[in-house]
Amino acid sequence: MEKMIKTTPAVFLAGDEYQITVPVNESCLMWVKVGNEIYYDDSNGILRSATDVHKVSVPKDELDAAGKYTLCLRPVIERKPYFSETGEVTEKEFMFYPAKEDKIIAYEIADAHNTVGIVLDAYYKFREEYGKADFLILNGDVPAHCDKGSDIDVVFKLIEGVTEGSIPVIFARGNHDTRGTTAEIFENYTPTYNGKTYFTAKIGNIWMVILDCGEDKLDSNEEYGNTNCFAAFRKKETKFLEKVCAEKEFDNDDVYYKAVICHHPFTRKCPPPFNIEEDTYEYWAKLVRENIKPDIMICGHKHKLSFDLPGGENDDFGQACPVIVGSEINFRENYYAGSGYIFEKDKITVIFNDKEKIVNTYEIKK
Ligand SMILES: [Fe+2]
Repeated sequence: MEKMIKTTPAVFLAGDEYQITVPVNESCLMWVKVGNEIYYDDSNGILRSATDVHKVSVPKDELDAAGKYTLCLRPVIERKPYFSETGEVTEKEFMFYPAKEDKIIAYEIADAHNTVGIVLDAYYKFREEYGKADFLILNGDVPAHCDKGSDIDVVFKLIEGVTEGSIPVIFARGNHDTRGTTAEIFENYTPTYNGKTYFTAKIGNIWMVILDCGEDKLDSNEEYGNTNCFAAFRKKETKFLEKVCAEKEFDNDDVYYKAVICHHPFTRKCPPPFNIEEDTYEYWAKLVRENIKPDIMICGHKHKLSFDLPGGENDDFGQACPVIVGSEINFRENYYAGSGYIFEKDKITVIFNDKEKIVNTYEIKK
């Protein structure tokens, strides 16, 4: 098993399903056992092998209840129209720890830009001080772009370093994830729900909406060479956000905290050429503020840690709640800081830290 899989599985949460995703080194078939059920990576009945990443969707409630899953792989020696040759099945069991409701710890990594060592070291420092995370938020720009296989591998190396396949991952796409020859297949390696990179999810009593602003400049920017249509993408996403607001799945007795997860802190104005979609982002901010009324918005993108209160200097489009930019990276000085979030009954504690120290802490009272 170890030589077939590149890393431990990523257990992405999207909607009501965990999407157990595993990059592999060689051609193989994959399925996952949860309790007495078997879930396959298949294309309408055909077990997939023409891929270097496998993804199996399992119902969230079932895996939460089971507390473990078994990853099963069968090598494919030669796939043929008749009498395909395959090898022996190997299995590996992974424990799975769903979050408990009284205290839930999340750790956010964003803007790693292909960096692994100092990024994981920041998480390990946090873990030493506050304990293990119950879930990881991977909030965009994890690769610097998507151009070769190793760019996407970074996603899985970070997930392995934090989760070891045993806690959920909330994944939001960043603007650098959309660039390069493999950007169009990045979604094979990362979660989507109904084919989209924006969706809702719930961990313990925390309800989340995960949003995707796409690129940070106009589609017509020459950097993109006519290869994007994010204006149309955002229009569809606006419809999705309107539907989320109308359906109010967050107005539920088992929801205690509400969070917006988005790489780009879209409530801030940007200087040219990044000053795009201001009407759209003002409308998104209004929808969020008047309907969802979240407790926290968790972002990255700016490469500079910040904790911004509604009405503060960075509140340009009407924040509903504190907006956190929870990552800082300085390539020249080999510096990275990430952020932890401890959700308790009376407050959310926000912790900024690097590999050596706690940089700052804040409290959001319930
Ligand atoms: Fe970014």
